[in-house]
Amino acid sequence: MTKKTNATKGANVAESITTANPTGTTKATGTANPTDTANANAATTGSATRRMLVAEPLTLPCGATVRNRFYKSAMNEALAGRDCAPTEEHVRLYRRWAAGGAGVLVTGNVMVDRTQLGEPGNVAVEDERDLAMLRRWAAAGTEHGTHCWMQINHPGRQSPITINRSPVAPSAGRLEGDYGRFFAEPRELTKPQIRDIIRRFATTAGIARKAGFTGVEIHAAHGYLINQFLSPLDNHRTDEYGGSLENRARLLFEIVDAVRAEVGPRFPVAVKINSSDGSVSGGFDEVESIRVIRRLSAMGVDLIDISGGTLEKPVIQTNSGAREDETRGVYFTDFAERLAGTIDTPIALTGGFRNAADMEKALAGGVTQMIGIARPLVVKPNLPNLIMNARWRGTVRLPWITTGLKALDRAFGGILVISWFELQMNRIGRGKSPDPRIGGLRALLFAIRQHGIGALAPRRRKGRQ
Ligand SMILES: Cc1cc2nc3c(=O)[nH]c(=O)nc-3n(C[C@H](O)[C@H](O)[C@H](O)COP(=O)(O)O)c2cc1C
Repeated sequence: MTKKTNATKGANVAESITTANPTGTTKATGTANPTDTANANAATTGSATRRMLVAEPLTLPCGATVRNRFYKSAMNEALAGRDCAPTEEHVRLYRRWAAGGAGVLVTGNVMVDRTQLGEPGNVAVEDERDLAMLRRWAAAGTEHGTHCWMQINHPGRQSPITINRSPVAPSAGRLEGDYGRFFAEPRELTKPQIRDIIRRFATTAGIARKAGFTGVEIHAAHGYLINQFLSPLDNHRTDEYGGSLENRARLLFEIVDAVRAEVGPRFPVAVKINSSDGSVSGGFDEVESIRVIRRLSAMGVDLIDISGGTLEKPVIQTNSGAREDETRGVYFTDFAERLAGTIDTPIALTGGFRNAADMEKALAGGVTQMIGIARPLVVKPNLPNLIMNARWRGTVRLPWITTGLKALDRAFGGILVISWFELQMNRIGRGKSPDPRIGGLRALLFAIRQHGIGALAPRRRKGRQ
């Protein structure tokens, strides 16, 4: 991770998002001092110097061109009600992000089946009943020439019992670990059910296109259904969808083919995939991931979004705030380096990008072609424009979210983080600005108010996803 510069000229206090404590870790307790800025290094010179790599357009294999390399990664907005329909808040949130300058905005995961949700507040698209609202959402997300792609997902067994008592999976078998009790035992999918899911991905993609979204991203990462099929630890099938890598990847490949057939050759189709499932021996590992990515590339996928981890083995999103970011740097860089040059398909590396220097370095080194960014765009929705136009050279310091009570923090670590970011997206959706002073307790209460007590089920464990 690049160290902070000392530039103070034109420090943009209004853009300050977090407050520093003496250890250098930023804290969101609800009591932080709003005048104290961790971004004193924010520099806005206004002078146009050399053109930045991150500002360069990119033409995808399908022929579509995105205006720059900022790739807003998927974040479940948790803004839908029980009807799973997009809302006015989605429209406002994406309008704000589109005005912020990113080349591509990927939506939070949209489910292909409203009986199978991954989190409370998911949007689900299985038919055209919400087409009018989807059109408004897509129109807002594509303002200023921004691409807005719908991320499409099925959670498989990662569907909390509070919202789903009958989940499905490649094989029966509960999630392991102390949080397994929060998930019902899934039923093994039959082949007709698998075919139905493939059809659903294609249908949702077709509706996304019809509504005006300019691309789709298939979610094959983070332990959800497609990832469960890929993983030998989750997939014990003995038919053509289990066993060899070719078989475990069959669902993904068939979904990609079906989506492509539905949206046509000129429409961006991306896949988000794990570099590995984490440090689990016998799991979907880097060697297998590279083989699957090569095949996806040969199939004409337009972009590969690299991530990692599952609910059981989380490797992204901790609740250590800026301190961890400083030591960890950009996530999955080693993997992206191994992949670089072996495929023609553009890559979006997602996780840990907090400043322009790291972005430029990754692009210059050919490690990635797009810069995947999630949480920083919640606290700084205009980060791309700040970097490209205002020459902002600060580092986004994510807060350490705490209720102020250790026992509560321990009990709800993961929910705290997710709820805090959802609350901030909700604020933007209501036309307000993100407020870093909001503490963890308020975020927890917000989650319960929005989604009931079920919001406290472990959607992502220990602050990670
Ligand atoms: C509130 C929240 C919701 C998320 N929802 C999704 C999602 O729907 N789909 C997905 O692929 N990743 C999701 N993620 C993970 C992000 O896309 C990203 O991979 C992760 O936050 C690391 O990137 P960052 O360090 O830039 O935040 C979510 C992250 C957060 C904080």
